[in-house]
Amino acid sequence: MSSFIPGFNNTLDPKAQFYLELADQCAAILQGQRNLISNTANVSSLVYHGLRETPTRDGKPVNWVGFYLADVKRPDVMALGPFQGKPACTEIAFGRGVCGTAASTAKSVVVKDVCDFPGHISCDPASKSEIVVPLKAPNGKVHGVLDIDASVTDAFDDFDRIGLEAIVNLVAEASDF
Ligand code: SME
Repeated sequence: MSSFIPGFNNTLDPKAQFYLELADQCAAILQGQRNLISNTANVSSLVYHGLRETPTRDGKPVNWVGFYLADVKRPDVMALGPFQGKPACTEIAFGRGVCGTAASTAKSVVVKDVCDFPGHISCDPASKSEIVVPLKAPNGKVHGVLDIDASVTDAFDDFDRIGLEAIVNLVAEASDF
């Protein structure tokens, strides 16, 4: 299997290669399962361990990887979904914090320093930077987000955004909403 990530065309950059391999692993683990909880659980595990254990990540210390998913009974709120890392806040309203901003705008948000993001929700004081990618169903509706935190500032860049958007897209295509 070989994933294609638009935006990583013709690049041999090690971070692009890292995300191509991680996307391959995600595509493989998503095969044969359409349950959203199962799929977000396994992908949060693959992404967490991949980011923490791969040398091409420059040793950037990722401390939390997980999903917030739209609450079926309260459509304006996302509930904590499958994750890896320390316990976190259990609900985030659309429009609140980094996660809620990514969900309500349907756009990824890269925060180099959480202190500079007004309304950032601090679940763990160890988290200094983060990236949040919206999880959009094939019909375009935002059903949640993938949130990744690191214990240093400036841990995420455009390679991370492009790679993680491709991985979240794989989850969306492979799952039932
Ligand atoms: N910092 C996030 C909240 C989620 S935790 O980081 C796991 C935010 O501001 O949305």
